[in-house]
Amino acid sequence: MKVDGKPYRSIWLAADGWSVDIIDQTRLPHEFSVVKLETLDQAAHAIKAMLVRGAPLIGATAAYGVCLGLRTDASDSALRNMCETLIATRPTAVNLRWAIRAMQEVLLPLPEGDRVSAAYEKAAQICDEDVAINSAIGNHGLEVFRQVWRAKGQEGKLNILTHCNAGWLATVDWGTALSPIYKAHDAGIPVHVWVDETRPRNQGAHLTCWELGKHGVPHTLVVDNAGGHLMQHGLVDLCITGTDRTTAAGDVCNKIGTYLKALAAKDNKVPFYVALPGPTIDWEIDDGVKDIPIEIRDSHEVKYIQGLDRNREVSEVRILPEDSPSANYAFDVTPARMVTGLITERGVCAASKEGLAGLYTPAS
Ligand code: MRU
Repeated sequence: MKVDGKPYRSIWLAADGWSVDIIDQTRLPHEFSVVKLETLDQAAHAIKAMLVRGAPLIGATAAYGVCLGLRTDASDSALRNMCETLIATRPTAVNLRWAIRAMQEVLLPLPEGDRVSAAYEKAAQICDEDVAINSAIGNHGLEVFRQVWRAKGQEGKLNILTHCNAGWLATVDWGTALSPIYKAHDAGIPVHVWVDETRPRNQGAHLTCWELGKHGVPHTLVVDNAGGHLMQHGLVDLCITGTDRTTAAGDVCNKIGTYLKALAAKDNKVPFYVALPGPTIDWEIDDGVKDIPIEIRDSHEVKYIQGLDRNREVSEVRILPEDSPSANYAFDVTPARMVTGLITERGVCAASKEGLAGLYTPAS
């Protein structure tokens, strides 16, 4: 997507041909800053500290992290250690494990001397595939939006509610949940997006609003608890979110608060769609509530809010008494029964074992 007229991906190989550039998402929307990754540790830190985030981008960054690590030591043991280091950075998004396994599959059979170039080739392929996948998700999602828009009599705005950031910043390009929104906007459907702020890190306020604004998509930021009210008053035509891990039975795990939106959507008969690329499916598990590891992050993120202060400096303020404890559960699981449909690169299906099996060969 474009930033001030210049096309960007969220991660790319630098002009030197080996280091990796990313957009520091902790600085957005106040500052557009590109950071260079030169080592495995820098890549692992970028994922853990969320300079990059979003399931597909985490996977792509891990793939390039392996490339950077192999430049120092391309032995079997080093490769295995770096993969463990990267996998430990964030536990919920399954794309991380998927990307690491894809890299290992290509690299382990090769002699050490061939590994670095093969790793760069595979990482680039993972990135290019992600872009193609997300564009295809956008095309299928666009048809869903058209149907909802027709059912509404094509009057007024098509009001869409989204949670967190599942846009191009969360992937290599296009995004998952935001891809159909961009395509619908470009196709002339008058979309308007309700953006949940998405506490504690406010990916909605910081990233989704920034992305949509840069593309000219009309949007309104709302507090996380507003969605139910909006739905009760007929102000939401459909909800769409991304997912960090989708079980073989169609349960979806996404940013904390997604489940509550799905509950409100069900009560108000608002369609609740989830957009996902194939690598987000975890074919090894069925029951998301029981089996998906939920990342618990530092409670600092709950206690403090970051923003631009009156001096136009990015700073943070504490919002609770100094000695009050807080907890930071980063994701929740929305059971398949609450999901209207899964929008994938291969088409739209029911959130169920049968639905997914109609599009994919399990574990492929
Ligand atoms: O903690 P984050 O910012 O990595 O969480 C991101 C999300 O929850 C996204 O919705 C999800 O990764 C899908 S992104 C295409």
